[in-house]
Amino acid sequence: MALRIAPSILDADLLRLRDDVLMLEESGASWLHLDVMDGHFVPNLTFGPFLAKALSKVTGLPMEAHLMVDRPDELIEPFANAGVRRLIVHVEGNPHLHRLVQRMRDLGVSPGVVLNPATSLASVEEILPDVELVLLMSVNPGWGGQTFIRSVLGKIERLARQLNQMGRAIDIEVDGGVNGKTICECARAGANLFVVGSAIFKSEDPRKTLGDLVGMDVATLA
Ligand code: DX5
Ligand code: ZN
Repeated sequence: MALRIAPSILDADLLRLRDDVLMLEESGASWLHLDVMDGHFVPNLTFGPFLAKALSKVTGLPMEAHLMVDRPDELIEPFANAGVRRLIVHVEGNPHLHRLVQRMRDLGVSPGVVLNPATSLASVEEILPDVELVLLMSVNPGWGGQTFIRSVLGKIERLARQLNQMGRAIDIEVDGGVNGKTICECARAGANLFVVGSAIFKSEDPRKTLGDLVGMDVATLA
C-alpha cells in the first residue's frame, strides 16, 4: 500500500507555488501541509488564511494547517472559512485544548493535536478520544531542512501502542527531517502519514522524489 505523504510548502518555490502545488497533486500527495507560523510561538513568520484560500482555487488536495501560533483560537474560523480540511494545534501553551477541539468540530474541520519533541504523550492522553490525528514533531518547529530527532521513533512506537490498546485507529503523523531513510523507520515505528518538505523541494527532481516516496510499499517497511 502506498505511503501517505503530506508535503510541506515551506520550502517550495513561493514564486512558482501554483506549479509546485500542481506537481505535488500529480505526484500522488495525500494532503497539503501548510506551516502557519506567527513569529511568537516560533521565531519564523509565514502566512495566514489568505494563502489557503488562494491554494483552494488551485488544487483539489485536502489542506491541513499546522498552527505554530500563540493564539490558535483566533485562527480556527478564518482557516476553516478558507477551505482548510484539518487544523493541527500544539498542546504546548494551550490551556483550553478540549474547547479548541470542540470548536474545530463545530466548524466541520478535522481536529489534530501536535507535540514538540520534548513534550510527553501524557499531555494528550485525555484528548485522544476527541481528535482524528496526532502529529509528532521530529524537529524543533520553525524551519524546514533540519535534522530528524531520532528519539521520536520511540515516541511513535509508544503512541501506536497506546492507540492500539484504546482501539483508536487515528492517524499518527510525523513532521520534520523526514526523507527516504527516516520515513522507513517512522513507518516501521507505526506512523502512517508523513510531512516532507526539504527532502522533496531541495532534491534534484522534486516530482520524482515525491513519486518514489509515495511508491514505497509499507508492507515491506513495517
Ligand atoms: C517545521 C514545520 C515542518 C517543516 C518540514 O516547523 O512544521 O512541517 O516544514 O520540513 P522538512 O521536511 O524540511 O523538515
Ligand atoms: Zn509542519
